Amino acid sequence: MRSQKLSEQDLSTPDRQKLDRFYEEVQVESKRFLGYPCNGLFDYSPLFRFLQYPLNNVGDPYLPSNYHLNTHAFECEVLEIFQTLTEAPAGSTWGYVTNGGTEGNHYGLFLARELLPGGMVYYSQDAHYSIDKILRCLNLRSIMIRSHPDGRMDLEDLRETLRIHRDVPPIVCATIGTTMKGAVDDIAGIQDIFRDLAIHRHYIHADAALGGMMLPFVDNPPPWNFKAGIDSISISGHKMVGSPIPCGVGLAKRAMWI
Ligand SMILES: Cc1ncc(COP(=O)(O)O)c(C=O)c1O
Repeated sequence: MRSQKLSEQDLSTPDRQKLDRFYEEVQVESKRFLGYPCNGLFDYSPLFRFLQYPLNNVGDPYLPSNYHLNTHAFECEVLEIFQTLTEAPAGSTWGYVTNGGTEGNHYGLFLARELLPGGMVYYSQDAHYSIDKILRCLNLRSIMIRSHPDGRMDLEDLRETLRIHRDVPPIVCATIGTTMKGAVDDIAGIQDIFRDLAIHRHYIHADAALGGMMLPFVDNPPPWNFKAGIDSISISGHKMVGSPIPCGVGLAKRAMWI
């Protein structure tokens, strides 16, 4: 498989110069780049030696794979850590390491669609733009709910909208840390509305791309996780984790797993 190794010397001069120029640009830009909440304080050098192998985590991380060059054992460890961080009981979630927050949202909303066919998705004005794209990809019906000025979903608007559509199972896509304002949608308040309106079949997906690696480390966070009653969650690796390669974590209650 590794019969011919490409080394730096094999690059043409223009290609090497192109890479050198880009390296210089990255060094400069990384010092003055502002406005995005991403962690740049990391050192993955102990992992560099693994980049010479075609590792691939194809398949379910919890099942044996024919592709032996995988890191499923590490992936399961990561998932267990995030299960704990999101306050799910041990062994109660299934998930995988994704390519980012968007993919985890896609997976959560896909599960919701399979579990509640014909369901309606409710998401706020401040939800990330990936949600709109995913709704179109999955051909899901949806209604956008107003946001408060601070970015939280307006639960009065949600309540009124759900009241009108009580015959359609709701799928609420709650944002746990909106991209622009860091607002956290009120999961407990959403559960209260389901209870008040006697809606028994429902699904809450948490887009915690941003907040999922902050709230576990905050004193007295608002209800946001599995303990608060969400059914699935997506966390991005491109923000607080600080991953230079596509990365995220998607988790869902094992009972929901398809
Ligand atoms: C709230 C929210 N959801 C989803 C995403 C998308 O995450 P990713 O870039 O990891 O796909 C972001 C990223 O900005 C976000 O802030």
